[in-house]
Formats: sequence, structure tokens, C-alpha cells
Amino acid sequence: MSVSFAGQRVAVMGASHGIGEAAAREFAEAGAQVIIAGRSKERLDAAAARIGHPVAVAELDATDSDSVAAFFAEVEPLDHLVITLSSGAIGLAPFAELAEADLRAAFDGKVFAHLRILQAALPKLRRDGSVTLITAASARAALPGSAGLAAVNGALESAVPPLAAELAPLRVNAVSPGVIDTAWWSGVPEADRAALFEGIAKGLPVGRIGRPEEVARAITYLAGNGFVTGTVLDCAGGATLASGR
Ligand SMILES: NC(=O)c1ccc[n+]([C@@H]2O[C@H](COP(=O)([O-])OP(=O)(O)OC[C@H]3O[C@@H](n4cnc5c(N)ncnc54)[C@H](OP(=O)(O)O)[C@@H]3O)[C@@H](O)[C@H]2O)c1
Repeated sequence: MSVSFAGQRVAVMGASHGIGEAAAREFAEAGAQVIIAGRSKERLDAAAARIGHPVAVAELDATDSDSVAAFFAEVEPLDHLVITLSSGAIGLAPFAELAEADLRAAFDGKVFAHLRILQAALPKLRRDGSVTLITAASARAALPGSAGLAAVNGALESAVPPLAAELAPLRVNAVSPGVIDTAWWSGVPEADRAALFEGIAKGLPVGRIGRPEEVARAITYLAGNGFVTGTVLDCAGGATLASGR
């Protein structure tokens, strides 16, 4: 039996496509009142139409403190907060070529964006509500070329247990996805993407890459299970096992 979120309010930060859009749909289908946020009203409106349930939309840039503060000053109290945004594949490069500016942008677009949003959200979050962050299997999968993104996602993963201890009874968890077919990969030309995904899939115990809906189910599980906190839940097709970890 799936958990009901009827009468509960959920904000999904970074939901104009991909994992956030899928999570927003999953919460809305389970009865939640959902607000989706991103940088473009046009893209959010398009996502709301695809979601097919009534959801509110809010334009904000998570790298801008004023924009984040303005959103949380206005938003109605929340039961659950989900943060599904990043600066994409910036910082994914062979280490010898990794530009410091790109690594800083990756930290800004993910680590600082997540922590800024969570801090601003605290006054609006139900005391025993939930927060779900999205990290990445790169934090532990030891993939060549991913040292920058491993540092970014590892930093965020390591913040989860102390946040859960400090902010209790608010629950704080993360989902750590492996490769998921979303616009995150839009920097790879479409012609090359299928071959790239096929190559990655071959190295995974499950033999395929993931779907945004699968990560969305992990997110709603963490938000809906009141006995789970301080956890990083892998939803990665065994990506960290494939490297022997
Ligand atoms: N896809 C994968 O293979 C994969 C694997 C591991 C981890 N992840 C992680 O999963 C999370 C979601 O990724 P995804 O695959 O769903 O990517 P996506 O399809 O590119 O979605 C990212 C979402 O974040 C929003 N966003 C980006 N920067 C923002 C900002 N500064 N302020 C507000 N919104 C912003 C985007 O909307 P706008 O552009 O309209 O603002 C979009 O809705 C990310 O943290 C990513 O690192 C993804």
C-alpha cells in the first residue's frame, strides 16, 4: 500500500524536468499539495502541464540568496522539502583538466544551493516533517573523470547525518542516484548519448540505466517513512558495487 500525502504540503526545488518533475508527480498522485520551483516560469508551466495534477509554480534561482529568501518568506508552511537541483555536468572532467572555476560553480550550484535552501526553509518546515536531498553515486563509485563531482556530492552526503541529528525531530535524508536518463545529460550530443548509456548499463549489475520515476519512488519513501532519518539511500542500479565498493 503506498503512503498517502493527502493534506500535506511539499516543495520540490528544481522540478521543471527530470527527477524533480517525477517526484512532484509522485507526491501529487499521493494527494499532496505540491509547489515546484526552478529558474523559468515557462519551463515550470510546461512541467506542470506534463505532471497532469494541479501544482503551484515558483520561479527562483537557488544560487541567489535573495531569490531563495524571497520564496521562503512567502511560501505557506511545508510538511516536506525536496531539493533536486544542480548545475548539471559542470565539473565532470579528467582531473588534470578540471578548471577550478568549474569546480567552484559545481559546488555553488549544488552544495551551497542545497544548504542555502534548507537553511532558508527551516522556519517554514513542520517540526517533524522531512527534507530529502539528492546527491549522486559519483560520491562513492570511483569513476575516472568524476573527482570534482565526487567532491561535490560527497560533501553533501557527509552533511546528512549531522543535519539529521541537529535538526531533529525534522528528518533529513538523501537519495543517491546513479545514471538517470534526464536533461542532466543534455550536454552529450543525442547521437552519442544512446551509446554512452549502453556502455554504462553494461557495467551495472542491473544492466540498464535508471528512470526518473525510480528515483522519485525513493524520494517519496524517505519523505513518507517517519522512522528513517540520517540516511543516504542508493538508487543507482548497483553503481557503487560495480566498482567493488
Ligand atoms: N540524471 C542523472 O544521471 C543524475 C545522477 C546522479 C545525480 N543526479 C542529481 O539529481 C538531481 C536532479 O538532476 P536531474 O537529472 O533531474 O537534472 P535535470 O533534469 O537537469 O533537472 C534539474 C532541475 O533543477 C533546476 N535547476 C537547476 N539549477 C537551478 C537553480 N540554480 N535554481 C533553481 N532551479 C534550478 C532545473 O530547472 P531550470 O533549468 O528550469 O532552472 C531542473 O528543473 C541533481 O542534483 C543531479 O546532480 C542526477
